[in-house]
Amino acid sequence: MLVKTVCFILIVCFASANDYISAIKVPGNVLGIKATSKAWMSANFVNFKAYPMVNIKTNDSQANRLNYNNGVKTIKIKALYDGKNIAFLLKWRDTTENIAKKLETDSFEDGFGIEFPTQLEVIPYVNFGDRKYSVIYYEAKAGIVQYSKKQIFDNNKNYINVKQEVFQYQGFNSSKKINFKNSNITMDLIYKNGYWLGSLSKQIVDKFSSQNSGAFIISFSVYNGQNMQRGRLRNLTPWIAVKLEGVDGGEQLINKIGEQITANVKNGEKIALKNCSICHVYKKVKNAPKYMAPDLSFVGGYGNLDYLKESILDPNRVQVEDFTKTAHPNFSWIEKNENNKNSSIMPSFDWMSQSEINDLLAFLQTLK
Ligand code: HEC
Repeated sequence: MLVKTVCFILIVCFASANDYISAIKVPGNVLGIKATSKAWMSANFVNFKAYPMVNIKTNDSQANRLNYNNGVKTIKIKALYDGKNIAFLLKWRDTTENIAKKLETDSFEDGFGIEFPTQLEVIPYVNFGDRKYSVIYYEAKAGIVQYSKKQIFDNNKNYINVKQEVFQYQGFNSSKKINFKNSNITMDLIYKNGYWLGSLSKQIVDKFSSQNSGAFIISFSVYNGQNMQRGRLRNLTPWIAVKLEGVDGGEQLINKIGEQITANVKNGEKIALKNCSICHVYKKVKNAPKYMAPDLSFVGGYGNLDYLKESILDPNRVQVEDFTKTAHPNFSWIEKNENNKNSSIMPSFDWMSQSEINDLLAFLQTLK
């Protein structure tokens, strides 16, 4: 009997993935560092998965078709810091080099984005933040512009101009351009042997991001121009912890962000089929009407455990908005409640037992 109880207790246990980025301390200044700099040899790449964003469809049927079978991508990431500034290097496979041509407004470029929370108290929605908790998004895309003296040619004769932009997001459809001219932010992008190399360097603490322990969180995305990817149509990593080598603290955050739940996945799958598949499609389960609610096929990949839990118990904390009314004409995901406040049409499932919730969460974590 005693043994049984122990086993029962052990069915629900938490484990942490140890995948985080260790920023290596280097002498000198990492600000302005290029993607091909030798300094990068001091650090090793760690592989992270970036999940296709399918939860909200665009209103471009061609782009939706091109991305229909878009799979999970691997981004190799490393980081350096010099005490005051931090730099990230990303490397990802892309068999086609897509560069926006001058005067072509409908061509799509390859590129990448890096997202930082604007505050540290609450972890924002990884997919562009939400109304309450915004994120800063640094984006670099490849393009060709006219030659001028200052510009450099790469080996393949193309001048690659990095189109660098910084936005503040409070959810989809809310981008606010930020003037970063005096902010010491530089991004670089170079195509070599079937891979893109992209770098970002910035001050660790600046107008938008603070830092109070040895770790913080960040998320990465890559765009494939060939598939007409842009904005929210991209491959996205979950929040990833960055640990500053030699600075104490932050272990709690690292553990929290990588939390995995071990519970009864099979039972969770049954619970989802009964309670969630009327609204949500995910993987092969396509009972729900099209666009009734976000597609959950990769939600376990980009959503951390707390976010998944909160989505079930308090659907109003983060409201994923279906702003593309032309793509989703039949269903509104957000309604006005009696106080004229936005409210999700998703009901709370807080009536479920703790073990049912755990099983459901364990199942959701397999959706990736
Ligand atoms: C009545 C329809 C409905 C039901 C039933 C429903 N949901 Fe939702 N769900 C929605 C809508 C609409 C949204 C988008 C608005 C929001 O964020 O609340 C959403 C959002 C979500 C999200 C966030 C998705 C993202 O891309 O970030 C998750 C996770 C989720 N639901 C899980 C569930 C689970 C698990 C169940 C079953 C226990 C469930 N939902 C049942 C309608 C529903």
